[in-house]
Parts: sequence; C-alpha cells; structure tokens
Amino acid sequence: MAKTQLMMLGPPGAGKGTQAKRLEDELDIPQVSTGDMLRDARRRETELGQEAAEYMDDGELVPDDVVIGIVEERLQQSDADEGFILDGFPRTRKQAESLADMGVELEAVIKLQVSEDEIVRRLSGRLNCPECGAAYHEEFDPPEREGRCACGSELTRREDDRPEAVRERLETYTDETKPLVTFYRDRGMLLEINGEGSPDDVAARIQDAIGVST
Ligand code: AP5
Repeated sequence: MAKTQLMMLGPPGAGKGTQAKRLEDELDIPQVSTGDMLRDARRRETELGQEAAEYMDDGELVPDDVVIGIVEERLQQSDADEGFILDGFPRTRKQAESLADMGVELEAVIKLQVSEDEIVRRLSGRLNCPECGAAYHEEFDPPEREGRCACGSELTRREDDRPEAVRERLETYTDETKPLVTFYRDRGMLLEINGEGSPDDVAARIQDAIGVST
C-alpha cells in the first residue's frame, strides 16, 4: 500500500499543529513536528536541546543540518512505515531538497492561510502543557480546569510566543519558509486551505481537499 506522506505549511500560529494532530487521529499515521521534537530535547536538557534553545527563543531557525538529522532519524522509526504528517519541516529550501534526497515523495503540502491579526490573537492566547505537549487557547480552546492540562500538569506559555519573538518568527517565515509555497506549487503538490474559522471548519476543508471522509 502507498504511504500517506503529508506536510503542513504556514506561518507561526496558522494551526499546523492543531490540524496535524487531528490528521494523526483520522489517518492513524504520526505527526512529525520538529518544533515538538526540539522542545522535548530542551526539556531533557540534551546537547541538541541546549543548542536549539538559543535559536528558538529568538524566533530564529535552528541550523538546517541539525534539523535534517533529527527528521531523517525520526522517519526511520517503524510507526512511520505507513506514512506521516510533517509539521514544521521543511522550512528552508535546503530542508526541502534534503527531504527529496531521503526519498520522500509528498502526496500533498497543506498550506494554511491565516491573516496576521489572527496569528497574533492565536499566539497571544496559547497555553501549552510542558509534560504531554497538548496545546490550548485561553479563548478558543480553554482547558477544563483553569491553568491545568487534562493530564494534570500546569500549563505554561511558550517562550517564543512573546510579542518580540513572534515578530521575529513572522519575519523568518517570510524570508526563509514562504518561498517553499512557490517551490511546492511548481511541483503540483500545494493545497491552499483557508485556515480561519473554527478548528472543525478548517479540518473539514482539509478533509475535502485531500479526499478523506470521517
Ligand atoms: P514550531 O513549533 O514549528 O512553531 P511554528 O511553526 O512557529 O508554529 P506554531 O507551533 O507556533 O503554530 P502552529 O501553526 O502549529 O499553530 P497551533 O496549531 O499551535 O517551531 C518553533 C521553533 O522551533 C522555530 O521558531 C524554530 O526555532 C525551531 N524549528 C522548528 N522546526 C524547524 C525547522 N524545520 N528548521 C529550523 N528550525 C525549526 O495553533 C496556535 C494557537 O491557535 C493554539 O493556541 C491553538 O489552540 C489555536 N488555534 C489553532 N487553530 C485554531 C482555529 N482554527 N481557531 C482558533 N484558534 C485556533
């Protein structure tokens, strides 16, 4: 059976992680989020995590070779045999080319379009669980118990959701990652999806576009 290899593309806060997690459940293939993997390495205080932290907190990209290495290793794990949803990778032309070099043929690149005002609203209200990685939003997706994850841990804000780091991330996206829109459009892989509206609305548009029914 052919693998289902998808990629989420879009600016910070566009909803890539939210929608990748839903696809993970619907398609029973893993979400592969470089942001989550790097944050996990930070929590465990590994050498990689310490190196990545400096870039992440400033809203800059972690060097290509570091990220390419962790993705290559991750995609060799057996749970990715049937496919995967890449979330936050590739983010530069070099990363996109490395993915092709790994022999990965993406079925579709799901590009979420969201206005800058909406991005700021989403990131300024985001709450994250440092233990299980779950994401909430104060207004749009509040936790049942204030300040607490469903797993019981205290929710925190991401260091790179500070307004100045968000500005830097948006600039980095425009300079480094947005060119991939043309890269994948030229290869006939790009699906441009309106990322505004409720998470359910966005999920329904994605399902329509990739031909999945739930
Ligand atoms: P990463 O973790 O990938 O961050 P990002 O791309 O900036 O994306 P976010 O996680 O902020 O947003 P998202 O689009 O996933 O939105 P979400 O679903 O959470 O990367 C972080 C850093 O790691 C980078 O800056 C870089 O330093 C490094 N890094 C990672 N990958 C790298 C790579 N490949 N190369 C180099 N460096 C790399 O939603 C956001 C909020 O909105 C949530 O609160 C959510 O609940 C809410 N929300 C979602 N959808 C909706 C909706 N439809 N309506 C209302 N609210 C919504």
